[in-house]
Amino acid sequence: MYGARFRWYRSNGKTPTVSQSVLSDIEDEASIKLLVDTFYQKVREDGLIGPVFDQAVQDWDKHMPTMYAFWTHLLFRRGEYSGNPWAKHAPLDVEKEHFQRWLILFRETVSELFDGPVSQQALAAAQSIAHSFQIRKGINPYPND
Ligand code: HEM
Repeated sequence: MYGARFRWYRSNGKTPTVSQSVLSDIEDEASIKLLVDTFYQKVREDGLIGPVFDQAVQDWDKHMPTMYAFWTHLLFRRGEYSGNPWAKHAPLDVEKEHFQRWLILFRETVSELFDGPVSQQALAAAQSIAHSFQIRKGINPYPND
C-alpha cells in the first residue's frame, strides 16, 4: 500500500528546497487492488455516478473481486476473469456525462498513484472500452460534440 510512492530528496543534508515525487508503475496484484479500491472510493463518493452504482450493484463483496480479476486479466493476462462487461452495462440508464465522469475519476486515480507504460495501457484500455460502450448505447463518445 505504501510502496507505490517514493520521495527523492537532495542528499546534501540540507533541508530540500525541491522535491520530486516518483511513482512506480502498476506492477502486481497489490497495485491492481490499490487502483480498483481507490477508484471505487471516488466513484461511490461521486454525486453523479455514485448513485448509479449504488442502485445497480447488488453485492459489493462480489463486484470488487470481479474488478480485480478484470484488470489483472486485461493488464497481465493472468487470472480467472471471464465475464461479459457489455451485458452489465447495456441495461444501465447512463448518458455521455456519466462516461465522462467515470473517465475523469479513473484518470485521476491512475495519475495520483502510478506512472509508466502499464499505467498508460490501463488508461488507453479504459478509454477504448468507454468509447465502445457509448457507441453501442447510441451515445456520441466525442467529448466536445
Ligand atoms: C458510465 C460509466 C459506468 C458505469 C455507471 C458502470 C457501472 C457498472 C455496474 C453497475 C456494473 C455491474 C456491477 C454488478 O453487477 O454488481 C459494472 C460492471 C463492470 N464494469 Fe462498469 N460502469 C461504467 C463504465 C465502465 C467502463 C468504462 C469499464 C471499462 C473498464 C467498465 C468495466 C466494468 C467491468 C469489467 C464490470 C464487471 C462485469 C462482470 O460482471 O463481468 N465499466 N459497471
